[in-house]
Amino acid sequence: MRGVLIIGSLVLLSGFFVAFNATKNPISVYEVDIPVGFPELEFPEGNALTQTRVELGRMLFYDPILSVDSTVSCASCHNQTLAFADNKVISPGVEGRLGMRNAPTLANVGYNPTLLFDGFLKTLEMQVLVPIQEHAEFNSNIVDIAEKLKKDSLYVRMSVEAYERLPDPYVITRAISSFERTLISGNSKYDQQVYQKNNVMNRSEKRGMNLFFNELNCVECHSGFNFTDFSVQNNGLYEVYADSGRQRATKIEADRAIFKVPTLRNIALTAPYMHDGSIATLEEVIMHYESGGKSHLNKSEKIKPFQLSKRERKDLIRFLECLTDYEFITNPAFSNPFE
Ligand code: HEC
Ligand code: HEC
Repeated sequence: MRGVLIIGSLVLLSGFFVAFNATKNPISVYEVDIPVGFPELEFPEGNALTQTRVELGRMLFYDPILSVDSTVSCASCHNQTLAFADNKVISPGVEGRLGMRNAPTLANVGYNPTLLFDGFLKTLEMQVLVPIQEHAEFNSNIVDIAEKLKKDSLYVRMSVEAYERLPDPYVITRAISSFERTLISGNSKYDQQVYQKNNVMNRSEKRGMNLFFNELNCVECHSGFNFTDFSVQNNGLYEVYADSGRQRATKIEADRAIFKVPTLRNIALTAPYMHDGSIATLEEVIMHYESGGKSHLNKSEKIKPFQLSKRERKDLIRFLECLTDYEFITNPAFSNPFE
């Protein structure tokens, strides 16, 4: 992780001055449609969205050229039809290698103040370096990738148009992040009911919504427009965790087995659940919370046992299914540009 941060800082610094020039040129701005109820999206200095940046990022996201043997792309593990998550417990990287964690959704990822389950890495631009270097993901090197891209005239042309420079680590990290920031999901049945004021939810779904917001404690962590307060917590999954969680990044004992609170948007599409994909269904997730979880030194005090009737459990699941955004998973602007 530390290696990633050092390389990341170099990449970020080296590009700073050139980016300044690039912003003087006339560029076609990419307008993001911010859904009702969502805050404005913020962009890092020098990386405002433009059409070409987003399009270049989209190509790189779907291009297996990023992996050492050109077999795996970002989209191999972040699949649009699954809300940019995957349905595998652990998604394989190059040569079928397996890491330790379940691939999360990238819906609304541009709003996340921290990335990864550790809740530690701060920018999308830095995060791009993680899968590129990971042995169990691309097992590659961003400098080598840039050399490959420089031999492709389309990538060269788009890179110059987007950032006024040849493909390099600066361009790769920023373009992919630009595409990721456009992945906004805010048109689920829940949004239509609550923000767009169309009465589309049925009685069971509304009963489930009441349980979620008023009867149970889910919103003490899964709150706000993106169903997460962006905090890091332990929800009592195990007494002993194989994954040290945030402690992996910070080395602080108090961070052991602490994980970022994930969004619940599109949750019906992103099974299996939890950092290790260990829970297969939403019903089992709810039963986990009903049990009050396993005792762990760092378990949040908000995780307490409760009991639901069969009908209530079903209602809660029906409500969680209302967080699926079908427009998001079929939006042609987010699909594979090579197909
Ligand atoms: C082999 C599967 C795999 C590939 C390939 C992959 N990812 Fe991921 N991605 C994951 C897993 C697993 C995690 C969770 C890792 C963790 O928390 O430590 C993750 C996490 C992320 C996150 C953090 C999301 C959040 O809310 O915290 C982002 C952003 C992301 N990936 C983007 C990308 C991009 C961009 C690429 C291509 C450059 C990529 N991923 C390639 C599996 C993959
Ligand atoms: C103390 C904070 C907290 C509370 C309260 C809480 N959760 Fe969670 N939830 C988390 C954390 C942290 C995770 C991720 C844990 C992990 O990855 O190991 C999570 C994961 C989940 C997941 C899996 C998400 C995914 O993408 O894998 C679902 C579904 C979920 N919670 C639903 C609920 C529901 C329903 C309630 C109310 C009954 C609830 N949560 C209450 C903190 C909380």
